[in-house]
Amino acid sequence: MTYQEAYEKLEKYGQLHVLKYYEELTAEEKDELLAQIEDMDLALVEACKHKSELNKKGKITPLSAMQLKEIEARKEEFTAVGMDAIKAGKVGAVLLAGGMGTRLGSDAPKGVYNIGLTKDVFIFQRLIENLMDVVRAADTWIHLFVMTSDKNHEATTSFFKEKNYFGYNPEYVTFFMQDMAPATDYDGKVYMEAKNKISSSPNGNGGWFSSMMKWGIVDKIHEAGIEWLNVFAVDNVLQRIADPCFVGATIVTESEVGAKVVRKNAPDEKVGVMCLEDGRPSIVEYYELTEELMNAKDENGDPAYNFGVILNYLFKESVLEDIVAKKLPLHIVEKKIPCLNEAGEFIKPEEPNGYKYEQLVLDMIHELNSCLPYEVVRNHEFAPIKNKTGVDSVESAQALCKENGIVL
Ligand code: UTP
Repeated sequence: MTYQEAYEKLEKYGQLHVLKYYEELTAEEKDELLAQIEDMDLALVEACKHKSELNKKGKITPLSAMQLKEIEARKEEFTAVGMDAIKAGKVGAVLLAGGMGTRLGSDAPKGVYNIGLTKDVFIFQRLIENLMDVVRAADTWIHLFVMTSDKNHEATTSFFKEKNYFGYNPEYVTFFMQDMAPATDYDGKVYMEAKNKISSSPNGNGGWFSSMMKWGIVDKIHEAGIEWLNVFAVDNVLQRIADPCFVGATIVTESEVGAKVVRKNAPDEKVGVMCLEDGRPSIVEYYELTEELMNAKDENGDPAYNFGVILNYLFKESVLEDIVAKKLPLHIVEKKIPCLNEAGEFIKPEEPNGYKYEQLVLDMIHELNSCLPYEVVRNHEFAPIKNKTGVDSVESAQALCKENGIVL
């Protein structure tokens, strides 16, 4: 992109301040900035001007989950179907590891965090160990696709190499990068993180499939004959991946997506819950759950919105290509954004100072025709690490690992 083209693009979106230091830059830095301006979706930030109108929910009604009792009763049937699909190479796994993990407070990728107490146990290692259980049972390797971002790609790929993929077969591990989105102040003006660089952050975990398409990975999926993709978060160290019973239940019930869910531990627990929205499967976030919905009961007198998602979904691959063309809703999230201040000095703010722009995987559910919420035992499968201490922390995850006989 030429300077003139960049100028016009920035002018169109009211972002000319991006060129404030242009004349001070070296030729190489100028090129870097122009390339970033070309790449950046600046139309996105316009959305913050009508933030309150974004993501209005439709009519919410309950969606029942397949519960533990039924799963236990049909375990053999589901597991056999799931195992067949895995052995036939029809199931792939997608690890979402592009996030910044800001709450954990480490600059390194979350997966390299060591939760070990008496020995090294890295988060990535825990996930690979869990996947290996299925690899061994099925006696076949499972393709693992790992999403990273511009901020952590190099650190993630070199960590896997350094640790010999924790015993996984490298031929079955493929990395790809998600896109970045600009970060802005509260008026939608993009921040600069250096004189030649717009502040940017990963654009949320909702872009995983479009990024796979961009990276040509979807062709690889077709060649390999993969029909189901198990998408999961990096931060749940008890995450069961390519769980044969879950895979089988999703296939047997002819669902386009299966979603692992846990029974909420309190009506106001901060997890998104499964529901129907205007008659289609959907997830309502905890902050969108009204008092009325929180206390609603089903025909058995149980809480009607009682199953929280744990970011473990099994998507039918063939339906993803259709939905990816549709624009997923945009979420504007208040965050602390490192940036240049008025004097051109780099600062790391103590308090939130603006917005990041994200699309979320949970919004893909609403685009599908059918979803199987599949209950799992919370203490066996849900140990998220979001914070250093307290709720959903390294400490709580360590205790849950111990409870499950995992030596740390
Ligand atoms: P979180 O919502 O917990 O975000 O991600 P985060 O960035 O990891 O952590 P905070 O909010 O900054 O503390 C849930 C999952 O989605 C992935 C994360 O890596 C994690 O597995 N994710 C999130 C992405 O892959 N890309 C993103 O842009 C955001």
